[in-house]
Amino acid sequence: MCRKTCEVLGYEIEAGTPVLVNAWAINRDPQYRREAESFRPERFEGKSIDFKGGNFEYLPFGAGRRICPGMEFGLATVHLSLAQLLLYFDWKLRDGRKPELDMSETYGVTVTRKTELKLFATPRIPIPSTIYCKSCSCLMPSNFLDISTHLHASDRPSRSHVWDAKVVHQLPEYMKDYYLKLMHTFEEFEDLLASSEKYRITYLKEVMKDLSEAYFEESKWRDQHYIPTLEEHLHVSLISSTYPMLECASFIGMGEIASKEAFEWITSFPKIVQASAIICHIMDDITSHELEQTRAHVASTVQCYMKEYGTNVQVACKKLQDLVEDAWKDINEECLNPIVFPIAFLERDVNFSRMMEKIYKQVDGYTNSSSKMKYFISLLLVHPIPI
Ligand code: HEM
Repeated sequence: MCRKTCEVLGYEIEAGTPVLVNAWAINRDPQYRREAESFRPERFEGKSIDFKGGNFEYLPFGAGRRICPGMEFGLATVHLSLAQLLLYFDWKLRDGRKPELDMSETYGVTVTRKTELKLFATPRIPIPSTIYCKSCSCLMPSNFLDISTHLHASDRPSRSHVWDAKVVHQLPEYMKDYYLKLMHTFEEFEDLLASSEKYRITYLKEVMKDLSEAYFEESKWRDQHYIPTLEEHLHVSLISSTYPMLECASFIGMGEIASKEAFEWITSFPKIVQASAIICHIMDDITSHELEQTRAHVASTVQCYMKEYGTNVQVACKKLQDLVEDAWKDINEECLNPIVFPIAFLERDVNFSRMMEKIYKQVDGYTNSSSKMKYFISLLLVHPIPI
């Protein structure tokens, strides 16, 4: 604001006149830059020019008293936001038009586009909210991150296994019936789907293959009496918990809202599925590891923890229980923030997790069905409360 009437370059400026510095013109002044109108960010490479308000020929954040107060914040976040938008989404122009952008500008105090740029963003990979381990710093600061990255990486169980009744003769006798029955069941599923939905079975087959691979890995560990590290164990046993497969299966009959993207997401082992698999697998191990070790069984997470950290069974169970608590926090967090997919998908996961919490609370109600489990099932299905 002009405080005193004065003259600038022959123009009289009255007191009280709002004055805007024309940063646009300054930044295009041919006196200071070659090819001032062309977009050549490399012109600043190796130059000591200060962009923080010290050199008036270049003022991206303004200068003086009214300089941008968010400058440091902007510098720290602009590239990050852009990188995330590019990483997590595929971008398309409306109607699949070719990317010929109209870069002409309107007049104004700040530069804006003459024609609006409308883009469609399609999620490419799931958006993580935060990185794991909130309470148990000694146990898992990086492990979960490692597990999920491993699962996306090349050492993920190979998906080359054959899904074809013709190869059944290659299997041991006891597996043949099971294999054929499995194929038949999947064919039945496929028959029940509309033709536009049949592709869903391909996703289910892939996660089923992952599951068999994980079982196979565990049986090798069992035969070799191998006690893996906790991370190594979870890398396999979160898959063998069956939850990733079951949660994918639960999407199959969801009708139109279950899009291809939803299947891509659920089969990418997102954080919420990891969390439900942790609840399922670890609660199972805490309540049933003693019984399981009385027969030929792969080492449980309890044994792995005890061996790796040199602790007793109580400490191991307590630490593992902390992981379950953290997993619940993650589920809550994902549900409060359903950025990419509708809550109906997340509800499937919540219900799976709730069920396990109930089944494995204090006792292994899954193995020992005559425990409270029978009572719960009858309450739910035989004597439901009329609403
Ligand atoms: C790379 C990113 C950014 C650029 C290029 C930018 C640029 C600018 C420019 C040129 C001005 C006018 C300064 C002047 O009149 O001399 C301004 C003002 C301002 N900016 Fe930013 N800005 C950025 C990020 C931010 C962020 C992240 C915030 C807030 C969190 C912010 C808040 C403001 C505010 C409040 C003003 C008005 C200041 C005043 O008039 O006193 N800016 N910015």
